[in-house]
Parts: sequence; structure tokens; C-alpha cells
Amino acid sequence: MILVTGGAGYIGSHTVINLINAGYKICIFDNLENGHIETINVLKSIENDIEFVKGDLRNTEDIEKVFRQFKIDAVIHFAAYALVGESVENPSKYYRNNTFGTLNLLDVMIKYNVKKIVFSSTCATYGEPAYTPIDENHVQKPINPYGASKLMVERILDDFDKAYGLKSIKLRYFNVAGCDEKGRIGEWHNPETHLIPNILKAADGKVFKIFGNDYNTPDGTCIRDYVNVEDLAQAHRLALIYLENENKSDVFNLGTEKGDSVKYVFETCEKVLNKKINVEIVERRPGDPAILYANSKKAQTVLNWHTERTLADSISTAYKWEVSNVQYI
Ligand SMILES: NC(=O)c1ccc[n+]([C@@H]2O[C@H](COP(=O)([O-])OP(=O)(O)OC[C@H]3O[C@@H](n4cnc5c(N)ncnc54)[C@H](O)[C@@H]3O)[C@@H](O)[C@H]2O)c1
Repeated sequence: MILVTGGAGYIGSHTVINLINAGYKICIFDNLENGHIETINVLKSIENDIEFVKGDLRNTEDIEKVFRQFKIDAVIHFAAYALVGESVENPSKYYRNNTFGTLNLLDVMIKYNVKKIVFSSTCATYGEPAYTPIDENHVQKPINPYGASKLMVERILDDFDKAYGLKSIKLRYFNVAGCDEKGRIGEWHNPETHLIPNILKAADGKVFKIFGNDYNTPDGTCIRDYVNVEDLAQAHRLALIYLENENKSDVFNLGTEKGDSVKYVFETCEKVLNKKINVEIVERRPGDPAILYANSKKAQTVLNWHTERTLADSISTAYKWEVSNVQYI
């Protein structure tokens, strides 16, 4: 059985669908602080056999209960806080949950002799890019507590490998976008800070704000790498297979290797929706690098991971979710 922490959240729930389609048995562990019981219900309607345990990583006893009750073979660890701005205002909250909570999980894994984990890391561990596209050897110098809390976990995982033989795959995601193709689950964050859902939310007559159009990029707006959530989910399954076959630790960037500007994403949203959306250019936000996109060659060659969905696919699935679940979000 695979334990999925944070499986009631955005990326975790999409990964659960991928894994159940591949025949894995799943236990989801989530405190439902930012995840949703409605998401768990949808997952259970797809596969009744899914176990769900409501618990918190900051409470070791909650984690132990799961390992006592089920025979866990490997863990995919999504559960964390992920708002950069909030992490600057409240670093304690981030280190306590993302770093200390993960340490609790790892201690219990070692106690129960579970030695395989796939970890949700982030391009935020790199900080200001010294060059683009960013590969896995790029220096890691996070510029906010969120990125630092994740980098610390990466280091802890390497130390746990040396000391206890824990094998980990760290997946450094770039900007994740899109939703389940069938519209059953989607991106449901509150507050929503991600670009595409926020453009789509503005489509009903509000004004979408672009933060700065004077960056050193071809159209002056920031460039990011938008990787589809279902493609990302597939990378987690491949990482599990890699751990099973190779039994060694490694790290992979997950991105499309294609940088898209905010203006381009906005225009693609208008095209997909066939609708004009109100837009306003406002001041830059502090701490936004001009260009961030991935070199993902390693995931392609070592994991055999390939992205299949386009930016327009991500936008149309996100829109499908947005309009059908407007009562929730
Ligand atoms: N969304 C992105 O673009 C992105 C990019 C890079 C990395 N990541 C990482 O991917 C992971 C998943 O992100 P997401 O967008 O799905 O976030 P999310 O908030 O939708 O999901 C996280 C889930 O973890 C749960 N959780 C948080 N703290 C917990 C705790 N202490 N105990 C139990 N459950 C807890 C929440 O309730 C939620 O369901 C995070 O680790 C995030 O840092 C996300």
C-alpha cells in the first residue's frame, strides 16, 4: 500500500487517480486544513478501496496510527503549506509544518522499516536563477522560508539515506497547472495564488492584474514553466517504479522546458475561453524573478517521463473545473 500525505489537496488527489488507475492500493493521510473531504469522496467514488485517515503530521501519534494499521510499502509526501508570501510573514508556521512535520513522518517510517519516499520539492529551492533553463545542479539558495523549508527536507532526506538507508526521490516541480480531464477534481486553493485559476476567475467580468510589464523579457512580463498536473502525477508513478527497481535516491526537475510569459498565458486563456478578459498592468511584486523555467532532461532520460499536455489543455481543464464547481470556490 502507498501512503499519500496531502492526498486531499490539489496535486496529491490527481496523483491518487493516476495510481489507482495503475492498480495501486492507497491510503491518504490529510488533516483537511487545505484539502477537502469532497475530494476524498470523489476519489472514493472512483475506487472504494481507498483508505482515508484524518491526521496531522505535526502529531507523531496520528502518523503512527497509520503505520500500525496498514502495511505501507512506500510514501508519497505532498502535505505542506505552499504560500510563499505567507511563509515570509510567518516562517515558524512553515518550518514547523513543512520541515518538522516531515521529520516526524521520516522518524515513523524508519521505526516501521519503510524506506522509500517520493517528496514534493519545488523550484523555489533554487532562489534567484543564475542561469535558465535551470537544471538539478543549479545552486540552491532559496529566497523565502517556503523554499528553505523544502530545501531542509531535501538535506534531511540525504542524511537519512546515509544513516538509515532511506531512499528518496525529490521532485522539484515548477508551476503546476490544469485539472483532471474528466472534471472530477481540480485546483481548489483558498486563497488562490496561482496564475491560471486567477485569470479564469476574472473571466466573469472582474479585472485581472498583471504584476509588471517592464521585466527583461520579450514582452516585458515574467516567464514561468507551466507543467500539467496529470503529467506531473505520472512522474510520481514513474518515481515509485524507479525506487522499486533501482532502490536509490535521486532528484528530478519537473517542468515542460518551455517558458511562457504571463501575457502569453493570459492571451491563451482568452483564446481557449473565446472571451475577452479585463486586464490591468500594476506594479511588480517584490521577489519575482524575470525568468524561471526548467531543464527536465534528467527526468526524461532516467524516469522516461514526458509531458503530453499543452498549456491550452491545462487552461481548458482548469476552466471546466472552475465553471462546474463555482459553488465551492
Ligand atoms: N501547486 C504548485 O504549483 C506546487 C509547486 C511546487 C511544489 N508544490 C508542492 O506540492 C505539494 C502539494 O501542493 P498542492 O498545490 O497540492 O497543495 P494543497 O494545499 O492543495 O495540498 C496540500 C495538502 O496537504 C494537507 N496538509 C498540509 N499540512 C498538513 C499536515 N500537517 N498534516 C496533514 N495534512 C496536511 C492539506 O490539507 C492539503 O490537502 C506541496 O508540498 C507543495 O509545496 C506545489
